[in-house]
Amino acid sequence: MKQKKGRVFSGARPTGRQHLGNYLGAIKNYVALQDDYECVYCIVDIHALTTMETTLALRQNTYEMALDWLAAGIRPDETIMFVQSHVPQVTELHTYLSMVTPLGKLTDLPTFKEKVRLQPQNVNYGLVGYPVLMAADIVLYRTNLVPVGIDQAPHIEFTREVVRSFNYRYQTDVLIEPEMKATETPKVIGIDGQQKMSKSLDNHIELAATPEETLQRVMMMVTDPQRMRRTDPGNPDVCNVFSFHKIFSTAEEVEMVNLECRRAGIGCVDCKRLMAKNLNESLQPFRERRSELAQNPDQVWDVLQEGAKRARAIAEETMQGVRRAIGLP
Ligand code: TRP
Repeated sequence: MKQKKGRVFSGARPTGRQHLGNYLGAIKNYVALQDDYECVYCIVDIHALTTMETTLALRQNTYEMALDWLAAGIRPDETIMFVQSHVPQVTELHTYLSMVTPLGKLTDLPTFKEKVRLQPQNVNYGLVGYPVLMAADIVLYRTNLVPVGIDQAPHIEFTREVVRSFNYRYQTDVLIEPEMKATETPKVIGIDGQQKMSKSLDNHIELAATPEETLQRVMMMVTDPQRMRRTDPGNPDVCNVFSFHKIFSTAEEVEMVNLECRRAGIGCVDCKRLMAKNLNESLQPFRERRSELAQNPDQVWDVLQEGAKRARAIAEETMQGVRRAIGLP
């Protein structure tokens, strides 16, 4: 096998069926990184508990997400794909890292303040420790590179600080400072044409939707708000459908839409139909693979169990070094 450049780790909460925003913003990148890095991808169910009122859907959401990752091209024979809670060492490391974490640093983080704003009635201890657990995820696997969205930058910086504090406090070098790799895709706007695509806002398009459902969602997309009538010229620069054309249509089609929209030669309905057709075509191999995998759910759980076994081996090795460095008897 080709010599790899180091280890990549990333995590995502079990949000169930993935949408185009998840794919373009993260999964696509996860898949590509497999060529050059040894990759570890984690479904962070413990992190999910910090904001969840019920765990009823947790198992199903974990399964659906794993299915989407596999169908999208994660190769479980090379890549370690697993569920966070299957490797209990992470909670142990979280505890040790918390001893070198000033509380004020956690409560100052913009991500924490945002959560307090969103769920003032549930500001739990776990929520404060969220970045500590994330740091534990990353360093437990002796990670070199963390691909994440730019919103996670404070958490990666925090991880680097915690590694330095730990290594300094215990005069060791067991923990490795990771680098961040900001995923450079522009943020994917939802069908409302306004906000970042997200399941909770219900402005998303699921990867696993049927072609008909996809067309239906595309037809709901908000276009150039200035274009009221079919005969009005439109402005592709402010139209979210056009941003999708740029991703899923051919260069000639993009050029055609760009030109014809501006002179009212094409209407929003036809423009959307064309985009939906191209989107469906590009998702077809994914969807076929997904239905195949879904025939046999046990196989997906087996992948996750096997991933956890490999993850635990790395984790336990790290933890032996950590316990020794701390001086635990
Ligand atoms: N906090 C990340 C997010 O919300 C998810 C996450 C948890 C993560 N642990 C991680 C990402 C470790 C990268 C590495 O997107």
